[in-house]
Amino acid sequence: MDVFQAQERIVELSELIRKHNHAYYMSDTPEISDYEFDQLLEELQKLENEFPQFAEENSPTKRVGGAITKKFETVVHRYPMLSLSNSYNREELIDFDQRVQKLAGKKVEYTCELKYDGVAIGIQYKNGQLHRAVTRGDGSKGDDITENVKTIRSVPLKLAGDYPDDFEIRGEIFYPLSVFKALNESREDIGEDRLANPRNAASGTLKMQDSKVVASRKLDCYLYYVLGEILPFKSHEENLSAATSWGFKVPKKSEKLFATYQSIEEIFEFIDYWSSGRNKLNFEIDGIVIKVNDYYLQEELGYTAKSPRWAIAYKFKAEQVETRLNEITYQVGRTGAITPVANLEPILLAGTTVKRASLHNADQIAKLDIREGDLVQVEKGGEIIPKVVGVNLSQRPPNSQPTEYISQCPECATELIRVEGEAKHYCPNETGCPTQIKGKMTHFISRKAMDIDGLGEETIEQLFEGGLIQNYADLYTLQEQDVLKLDRMAQKSVSNLLQGIENSKQIPFERVLFALGIRYVGETVSKKLAKHFKNMNAILNASLEEMTAVDEIGEKIAESLYFFLQKEEHRELINRLKSYGLQFEIVETESTQVSTIFEGKTFVVSGVFENYSRNELKKTIEDYGGKNVGSISKKTDYLVAGYKMGPAKKEKAESLGVTILSEQEFGDMLD
Ligand code: IVH
Repeated sequence: MDVFQAQERIVELSELIRKHNHAYYMSDTPEISDYEFDQLLEELQKLENEFPQFAEENSPTKRVGGAITKKFETVVHRYPMLSLSNSYNREELIDFDQRVQKLAGKKVEYTCELKYDGVAIGIQYKNGQLHRAVTRGDGSKGDDITENVKTIRSVPLKLAGDYPDDFEIRGEIFYPLSVFKALNESREDIGEDRLANPRNAASGTLKMQDSKVVASRKLDCYLYYVLGEILPFKSHEENLSAATSWGFKVPKKSEKLFATYQSIEEIFEFIDYWSSGRNKLNFEIDGIVIKVNDYYLQEELGYTAKSPRWAIAYKFKAEQVETRLNEITYQVGRTGAITPVANLEPILLAGTTVKRASLHNADQIAKLDIREGDLVQVEKGGEIIPKVVGVNLSQRPPNSQPTEYISQCPECATELIRVEGEAKHYCPNETGCPTQIKGKMTHFISRKAMDIDGLGEETIEQLFEGGLIQNYADLYTLQEQDVLKLDRMAQKSVSNLLQGIENSKQIPFERVLFALGIRYVGETVSKKLAKHFKNMNAILNASLEEMTAVDEIGEKIAESLYFFLQKEEHRELINRLKSYGLQFEIVETESTQVSTIFEGKTFVVSGVFENYSRNELKKTIEDYGGKNVGSISKKTDYLVAGYKMGPAKKEKAESLGVTILSEQEFGDMLD
């Protein structure tokens, strides 16, 4: 492909991807499969790597992330980000309406919207390109989180249609509840604590330094407010509907996420509709926002120091009920983490019957002084699992006893341990505690790990109780005649099960590594480790320092991995799995390597670069045969130093005699 063809194809692909992105994320009418979409994106990425001069500043490949923000710059808002005055009852809304009508001297049109419970964002667009995205901060200045916001698929990078040259749009970034749930499940799966609620989680994600991680998190965003000197229309509704045509995800009238009304009664109906309907939404809301539609009237009403006089929020009360706490029980997770559970007198809350609620950990129980027999307040916020938020002390039974947290594992009676700085207690009996054993096996066979067809949690339980398996390696020694002896085991299902186990021997190394169930070694970490070490022997022989040196493997993960592999019983399990024919090395797929000039050389990439994102740089190093590591040691050959690199790194490189390359020098080496 010559230069001109490349340029043409880059433009063509960018447009095509934008169109499909819009169809998928905004209109919900995808025209091609995810696979085809990824193929287009990959083709574009390849061309941009080869012809970086044609890569657009806001190319769709930016969605994949890669840029690292070490420190988020503080930016002064062009228009302060105000809050809304809140109301909790209808009288206050009636007062608001009367004040507004008095000033207008006529019937007023209002818009009604949902009050999204996420992270407020202001995004500036210049000449149709996303220029900058800033958090609310203290209202007058916030943090520049542009690189992270660019990875959110429902935020357009480049606008369509007849947009103003320079304007800002505001909205709210949030985790769809389904995504939040999956995120927590995968965290729990590797022994991390669950995140408390979607809003805090979204806020934390947006402050991550590596935009690639943000890109993988599937945040979403609704935009609800257009600001600028020159806007096409003089009403809120018209500008929002114009924003839809520019490519923004704006709450739709057709889905009743937006409405215009002239009477307070209709507004009350909207509130009633959503106060019961909000449970069905895939995101959190905490109220309804009512705004004066007409901009002239908005101007006349003006602002107080904190909020506009032309808008008001009606806040829903957190959905809370009081019920009896019958018993506190304790659950043991796959990694041995103990979770106290409140067993409640069943009660209806936010559309579902609640029987159990999480009590989190010992500190939480002590802080609220929660006791069996208490009347407790249960709340269902963003957390999918309801939680106990308080105790009705006035109703405490006279014979009530303070809760004594368990000191032994409820499943195997082993003395529990609590590592300093961690909230949870753990059962250390990894290889003897039945719940942990079964949990580890269930993780091993799960879809993202060994994906063994015909085998589920119940069968694992049955095989374990029947004495046929003690650990996941035993799965590979199962004999048909033994399994057939178990209850409800027909010939067909046993054949399926054994075939599924046989097939799992083809599962690639990185998933086998994930399946081992090492704390903090999740899917992504497993991939990184497999890619770096290439086979299990290299990991088994690696020192703690060598593990920490792997790109993006921190101390916590490295320690967990290292000490897991130090244990004789784990080594034996791994040896057995090897002998049964599981994959313990990566199969090199077609390499994108273009040259071997960096063969055997080790690189550390640090700082921010002009022509590359950090990930592009790392990929280039690998394409030329080199290896990336996370920290500088005497084995490092080169430090590629961008601007904003910390002085400590530079000093360390100098003292160890590591060659420091500027971006320019690195480029020269490639040439
Ligand atoms: S309009 C000057 N509309 O609530 C008014 N805000 O308490 C600008 N929010 O900072 C805000 N949903 O983060 C507006 N439909 C909505 C909203 C909304 C949520 C948030 C926003 C704002 C806060 C005010």
